[in-house]
Amino acid sequence: MKLAIIGSGYVGLTTGACFAEVGHDVLCVDSDQAKVKSLRGGSVPFYEPGLEAMISRNAALGRLRFGESVAEAVENCLALFIAVPTPPHADGSVDLHYVEKVAREIAGSLREYRVIVDKSTVPVRTGEKVAQTIERYSKQKAEFDVVSNPEFLREGSAIADLMNPDRIVIGSSSERATAIMKEVYGPFRTPMLITDLNSAELIKHASNSFLALKISYINMIAQICEASNADVLLVAEGMGLDRRIGRSFLQAGVGWGGSCFPKDVSAFIRIAEELGCEFRLLKEAASINEEQREHFLKKIREEIWLLRDKTIGLLGLAFKNNTDDTRQSVAMALAESFLKEGAVVRAFDPKAMAKAEQLLPKLQLCSCGEDVAAGADCVVVATEWEEFRDLDWLAMKKRMLSPLVFDGRNLLDREKMAAWGFSYRGVGR
Ligand code: UDX
Repeated sequence: MKLAIIGSGYVGLTTGACFAEVGHDVLCVDSDQAKVKSLRGGSVPFYEPGLEAMISRNAALGRLRFGESVAEAVENCLALFIAVPTPPHADGSVDLHYVEKVAREIAGSLREYRVIVDKSTVPVRTGEKVAQTIERYSKQKAEFDVVSNPEFLREGSAIADLMNPDRIVIGSSSERATAIMKEVYGPFRTPMLITDLNSAELIKHASNSFLALKISYINMIAQICEASNADVLLVAEGMGLDRRIGRSFLQAGVGWGGSCFPKDVSAFIRIAEELGCEFRLLKEAASINEEQREHFLKKIREEIWLLRDKTIGLLGLAFKNNTDDTRQSVAMALAESFLKEGAVVRAFDPKAMAKAEQLLPKLQLCSCGEDVAAGADCVVVATEWEEFRDLDWLAMKKRMLSPLVFDGRNLLDREKMAAWGFSYRGVGR
């Protein structure tokens, strides 16, 4: 089927590549000419394992093309996926002007039946507004349907998540549109849930917020573990064995970050508020997340006292492993606090150094993980990159002023670190 993805950002590009991979004819559209040019040249503007190879393979087969024109997409493609950014306003509410602009552009070129699919994460009732907008600005009065098809991919494992999702949610009240969406997703052989438009939109915010809530819950349990001399890893294991709870997203740490959770949680609080519902539970989850970072900083200050003129070796800058994304990264927030308090920060991240340097030029970037230890008063693990486990910790210890490690992700083997002579501080244990 001929599909267009409007917006070639993270979600748009990975979705477009995966649709092409299963045999659809895909046109990825973006208004940024420079981006389109570099995509045509085979370069992807962010790091996602396997994506560049998937894009070049499908582009070579002629199943994946890049363009700038929404009109071309509307003319040639039956389903038009809107995957433009929905950034937050200063008050946490969602800025929908990109979505609205695309809706007007689609309306301007609409001549025959099309399905307009909202993939961007949007407040409930946005689909209704998109439909009204297209109706209002469409000159030819062609038929169309608007459906919601939220995306649940995680950065770092986006391709696996897209190719093999837990569920595909389609919010549609039109049989014609539902049949087309079933055909689009036919090759994925995944359970499909068909709902009304508003419920599908809510599923996305409700799911992301629930996951953030789950992490805040275990982070609060971690604080209780610290105060009671218990071990949060064992508590999480014991909880996770209950199939109703599950072990995933119970990894205690310095808190959640990234381009989705902070934005979506704030947005959902606002959305609920506008609908007359105060989401106190979610507000609490957000403040626990802030507290968790402060609690970690306090632990460091308690041990090494003033941070001024101290050297901190920082492992990790990305908001999580397997990505170069530093948006709302807790690791970056920690780095900023260390710098503000007058510390020298020697940092390393396998993928996020270039992006981190632009935001915090005062960071001393190191060429490998081991190097952060040179002259360090302590080493802090801030991102859960697996490869940090395999660093030459004994060599690092020799280069440190004092063998103190704060593991903000409970990534390292506590017993091994102790055997090697480190003072090891995890989270909640
Ligand atoms: C998230 C959702 O998982 C995904 O379904 C949605 O489409 C987009 O938002 P992503 O932002 O890529 O995906 O990251 P995710 O893997 O969910 O992690 C988010 C944050 O939570 C990271 O900072 C991570 O380090 C942290 N985290 C995750 C924990 O602290 N503990 C955990 O147990 C899991």
